[in-house]
Amino acid sequence: MCGIIAISSDKQVAAALLAALKQLEYRGYDSAGLATLEKNKIHTARAQGKLAALEQKLKTRAPPGSTGIGHTRWATHGRPSEQNAHPVIAEVGGKSENAVAVVHNGIIENHAKLKQELARQNLAFHTDTDTEVIAQLTSLNLAAGLPPLEAVTETLKRLEGAFALAFLFSRDDTVIGARRGSPLAVGQSDNTLALGSDVLALAPIARQIAYLEEGDIVVLSGDTPRLFNAAGENIQPQWKAISPSSLQIGKGQYQHFMQKEIYEQPAVVGETLDSFLDPARLRASFPEFPFDTGSLRKVLLSACGTAYYATVAAQYWIEGVAGLPCSAEIASELRYRDPALGGTDLAVFVSQSGETMDTLEAARMVARAGVSRLAVVNQGESTLARECEMSLLTRAGAEIGVASTKAFTTQLALLGCFALELARAGGVSDERLRAYGSALMELPSRLYEALTLDERVSAIAADISRARHALYLGRGAMYPLALEGALKLKEISYIHAEGYPGGEMKHGPLALVDDEMPVIVLAPSGPLFGKIASNAEEVMARGGRVLLISDAEGLASFGGEPEWVLEMPSCDVFVQPILYALPVQLLAYYAACHRGTDVDQPRNLAKSVTVE
Ligand code: F6R
Repeated sequence: MCGIIAISSDKQVAAALLAALKQLEYRGYDSAGLATLEKNKIHTARAQGKLAALEQKLKTRAPPGSTGIGHTRWATHGRPSEQNAHPVIAEVGGKSENAVAVVHNGIIENHAKLKQELARQNLAFHTDTDTEVIAQLTSLNLAAGLPPLEAVTETLKRLEGAFALAFLFSRDDTVIGARRGSPLAVGQSDNTLALGSDVLALAPIARQIAYLEEGDIVVLSGDTPRLFNAAGENIQPQWKAISPSSLQIGKGQYQHFMQKEIYEQPAVVGETLDSFLDPARLRASFPEFPFDTGSLRKVLLSACGTAYYATVAAQYWIEGVAGLPCSAEIASELRYRDPALGGTDLAVFVSQSGETMDTLEAARMVARAGVSRLAVVNQGESTLARECEMSLLTRAGAEIGVASTKAFTTQLALLGCFALELARAGGVSDERLRAYGSALMELPSRLYEALTLDERVSAIAADISRARHALYLGRGAMYPLALEGALKLKEISYIHAEGYPGGEMKHGPLALVDDEMPVIVLAPSGPLFGKIASNAEEVMARGGRVLLISDAEGLASFGGEPEWVLEMPSCDVFVQPILYALPVQLLAYYAACHRGTDVDQPRNLAKSVTVE
């Protein structure tokens, strides 16, 4: 989603702004731009499409100045175009001293009303964006004689919705940043102050960063940033040194970030298990919870997209292993429902970024019902982590590919450990817990083994990449993996795909089966193998083309001859949902490669969905 950068330094900033925007590319965008200030004049460069188009423009004319703001835009209001790209400029009365440039992440919900009001004052609008009302209001405030900080403060009072903003003024070598709902961080190093949507953008520029809290405003001018809280009080930034690992975002030997991230899974799942599993006692090991795990009556899990599918798998574990009532809810639905919740319930929100707007709002809604909240995040400083009573960190490291891979498996690993913790608190025997714990301990090795299927998956993906539709089937805790497999395929290869519980085939989807649509059947050996194997047979009996993904035992007992088979390493049923994530990720990855799509930045998608 939109990325923001601002730099105030003693050197020309256009190149540094562009470099920082490159760090933000992974968030997904469809146009980009920057504005700089030199001798009380704002200079801009904007381009539709990838940053290469903006870079090309900068080669012929780099905007001059040592202070500037930059933006990657993921269109919400107004189509992607150069005209709608940020920074958005306003200059009330055509007077250059009133000029202001604004970059924005979020949505101004009352923009239509504000636009009508401003149009009545004969202000002309030049873009279709909601952002332009922010620029116009601020310029109007400057024209009324307010200095920049007051002009911004007055503008913010008029805005409804979520935003992170950076303003650049013609009259003053100052950048102002503001946050309400969308993340923004301030950074500093020798002679440089900066703002950025995330640590990745700031890592090459700043040695230390501080995240803005809700309602904060920051002023970049002089040697140090001045920070004000929502009450207007001057406060001290809570500086944190940037760790060297936050700089390591190269692709290394891999062709794509997604491929690299798939390959990192044995290591990062291992690190996540190291944090939440005691290897000596084979028991889950968590810091003290701010709620009593032994007296919980119900667990509500909620998330969006891939993270939601992790919660669906966890629902099987929490019910099946810990014996606790549990439901998994899509956050964008949950936030508008009125779920029956009580003080002995726990709500767990799962999010790689910790900034997904629907997940945040669902968590806020649940807080109003007085329920304890636990965040499972990959970004420890994220809004979700900070707002929930407790947060637990997956150890995936920076995930750059828009399609989530290692975040998903680390979420599963953490939630698996959490299910064991709930089981322990619920009195499940040590012997059973140790069996589950030992299955988790072995998981990183099984993940390594699964990666050796790479070439075979690539060959199968070459066939599947020619299909227009695909179906994924699973049962039990493999059903969410079927959903995840279908999501991965559609988002990066643009092949239409659906995930279904195998038992539902006869209730409709069987009508789709023909000799063109591949049906990917996730069928590890275990209690439900016979059931899913029958579903695969039913597809094949109707001329369907099946890819059977199973282990040696499953394949040996399967009667028919599927068009393709993948033999997975054997593992305990408990960890199958984690292990089987790898072949579905690799299948989607190679199908996308064969089709030549933009694997790391699929069209129309954003990495972190910070608007509703
Ligand atoms: C799909 C994908 C998305 C995210 C979803 C939630 O590959 O990455 O579906 O899982 O947008 O994002 P987070 O986990 O950041 O809340």
